[in-house]
Amino acid sequence: MTVPWWQSGVIYQIYPRSFQDTNGDGVGDLKGITRRLGYLAELGIDAIWISPIYPSPMADFGYDVSDYTGVDPRFGTLADFDDLLAQAHAHGLKVLLDFVPNHTSDQHPWFLESRSSRSNPKRDWYLWRDPVPGGGPPNNWISDFGGPAWEWDEASGQYYYHAFLKQQPDLNWRNPAVRAAMQDVLRFWLDRGVDGFRIDVLWHLIKAADFPDNPSNPAYRPELGEMHRVLQQHSTDQPEVHGIAAEMRALADGYGATGQGERALIGEIYLPIDRLMAYYGVEQAGVHLPFNFQLVEALWQARSLAALIAGYEAALPQGGWPNWVLGNHDRPRVATRRGQAQARVAAMLLLTLRGTPTLYYGDELGLGDVEIPPGHVQDPRELREPGKGLGRDPVRTPMPWNASEHAGFSTAAPWLPLNADWPDRNVAHMAAESGSMLTLHRRLLALRRAHPALALGDFAFLEAENDVLAYERSYGEERLVVALNLGAMTQRFEMPVWALDGRPLLSTLADLTPVQDGALLLRPDEGVILTLAD
Ligand code: NOJ
Ligand code: CA
Repeated sequence: MTVPWWQSGVIYQIYPRSFQDTNGDGVGDLKGITRRLGYLAELGIDAIWISPIYPSPMADFGYDVSDYTGVDPRFGTLADFDDLLAQAHAHGLKVLLDFVPNHTSDQHPWFLESRSSRSNPKRDWYLWRDPVPGGGPPNNWISDFGGPAWEWDEASGQYYYHAFLKQQPDLNWRNPAVRAAMQDVLRFWLDRGVDGFRIDVLWHLIKAADFPDNPSNPAYRPELGEMHRVLQQHSTDQPEVHGIAAEMRALADGYGATGQGERALIGEIYLPIDRLMAYYGVEQAGVHLPFNFQLVEALWQARSLAALIAGYEAALPQGGWPNWVLGNHDRPRVATRRGQAQARVAAMLLLTLRGTPTLYYGDELGLGDVEIPPGHVQDPRELREPGKGLGRDPVRTPMPWNASEHAGFSTAAPWLPLNADWPDRNVAHMAAESGSMLTLHRRLLALRRAHPALALGDFAFLEAENDVLAYERSYGEERLVVALNLGAMTQRFEMPVWALDGRPLLSTLADLTPVQDGALLLRPDEGVILTLAD
């Protein structure tokens, strides 16, 4: 049986501005990623997803694209990209790009044309509406970055819709010409050999045709961010979006037969589970993996985690492959959310659950959120609603590679500050330490590779009580047990009868303790993987 790489593999997210700078401008670049492919292959991941690298005014650091088929000079050239792709493939690594279809930059030629006059052929490529009678925006929709989602264009006398910054006008995905142009974009990169895409805000693409007001949110509190004043009932997750996902899937699948392996589509979707599942496909296949972000916000208790995992597994449609995420470039880092000791247990959870894990760069070092000094804030999210803890700079700081100046990230001061603990928390230092977070990740990734039970096997719960979460992974004859202590007190885990011969393979702590008297004593913040083989 051949299993597609996106099922058995582990995806690693790279925020390109912060991975490795090679030309001394303090900003990471494509050559930097190429330089570090050896590190990634040795780490043991299978694919990289690179946040946007296209030409962009960088109002939202690349999520405002002004040319979908180029490379921003800050990151390099198309030739640099081709080189990165070829060298990644030579290392056995797949490469996913970030596709940003919901909106362009306001500097994209399409928008410049659209804005130029009401009769321009591209007018209907974006969402233009008249003011309501008496004046004012067409409805009450709010930008995800705060403030009204409608921007008045004085010259042409209409409003345009932007779900994010006003520099990110939303495209009109009901227009077939937009769909065709975006299919061409996908083809451009697929023809170059990319292995797939992470699709930005997939659930936003279609809005209710008549633009009704969104209902107000009874649970709104200002500290949540202004966007939460209303529920995005009419501005997101409309049924027609599934037809668009199916078109993208059909295109990607057409490349499956090229002999280069399957191309994968991952949808960024923040929705409750029942609605998330529809993105696997309604009448036709949708994306391969609708991102499952539940662990990012989960209550860290055995019972609630078990309920979350069981609920997700039960909701998966026939043939739908699961996936798990612990962190990304938009949310607080796991080491900050859970603390250093428990972040090791979280890593074991991420890499032993059933489904494709996505690992965020730096999490393998236990990198925490970095405090950004006043005056150094870069993220528009923070600048627009300061002080609410919504800013994303703290989780986008440079990768610390070694103890040399600027942590080996750059020869110049980096665009965001380094983690204060970089003299110790860096790749070179941690690679040499047997007990480091980095070494733990290498071991976990090596175990996943060696044991199909972890990469592909079935999943069954063994225990979810007190602070113990334990489960079984099995594939063919092989059975593994994973036992996690989610708290800071020793816990006794009674081994199931069939597993009394179990032998620890890996602990999140330095040494292994055997099963004794039918039980495993889990030390504080300890996770253990046990095998039943001799
Ligand atoms: C989701 C991306 O992850 C985020 O970083 C970005 O700001 C918005 N989409 C807008 O593209
Ligand atoms: Ca650079």
